[in-house]
Amino acid sequence: RPEVVRTIAELRARVAAWRAAGETIAMVPTMGALHAGHLSLVAEGRRRAARVVVSIFVNPTQFAPHEDFQTYPRTEAQDLALLSTLATDLVFAPAPSEIYPPGDATRIEIGGPAAGLETDFRPHFFAGVATVVAKLLIACTPDVAIFGEKDFQQLAVVRRLATDLALPVTIVGGETVREADGLALSSRNAYLSPAERAIAPRLHAALTTIAEVARTGGDVAAALAAARSDLLERGFHAVDYLVLRDAATLGPVDDATTERRLLAAVWLGRTRLIDNIAV
Ligand code: PAJ
Repeated sequence: RPEVVRTIAELRARVAAWRAAGETIAMVPTMGALHAGHLSLVAEGRRRAARVVVSIFVNPTQFAPHEDFQTYPRTEAQDLALLSTLATDLVFAPAPSEIYPPGDATRIEIGGPAAGLETDFRPHFFAGVATVVAKLLIACTPDVAIFGEKDFQQLAVVRRLATDLALPVTIVGGETVREADGLALSSRNAYLSPAERAIAPRLHAALTTIAEVARTGGDVAAALAAARSDLLERGFHAVDYLVLRDAATLGPVDDATTERRLLAAVWLGRTRLIDNIAV
């Protein structure tokens, strides 16, 4: 089992010892309920640095009061067992009061890539993510930090945050790990009923179809509209967004666009799924 520390002071002491020995450090921030997607980021960290720190912290400030903070899966013993298979050097699993001390009053406000998409539906979300990611990176001071492309807008927000705060860290994106049927792995997939799980891969299938249309110069607007109604007919309850964007800015595709990205957020019962693919 990897060593677990719960305070920033202990984390800093471990990191200082590694630094004194000239070792590089990778960090993989997570909210636990680890799956093969998280583990692929840990493996990427191993390739890029001598030491890997995984944080496990269900961050209260990125959940709205009506969201699933209370019920979010917490599986620490199982997470540690999974991490032991990947030679994780250290797990940082703080209590909320370690990250948000009594009287806590500081938040990071972020625009740019945080505008639109998730923010239209979860307006609180990226302030919470930016705040906790800044706190984690400042506590650990890794050389590299790995974030999944699964949360493509989050990855863009973290890159912006690191640039704007001049954090001395390289942000690395990790490819999305999927089930054999295309469904992107997510801790929230545990919420899906068997019937919902059976139709969930339609989201990735829809993205793949639209990407093909976009790649071959077809009618993207028509493909997006057709995919939207197909998802709703098959049993998805709502489509928050299903859009083609500039991959670099996440804004509308325009003449300056060099890479495009399809991004979606949809509801299946009480579960919100997000996914995206390159075009
Ligand atoms: P969490 O949802 O636990 O995800 C932790 C990291 O794993 C994120 O960088 C996410 O993009 C990545 N990830 C999730 N599913 C993946 C998949 N199928 N393939 C590859 N990577 C995947 O994202 C968060 O936690 C939080 O917002 C956090 C950044 C930790 C801040 O609280």
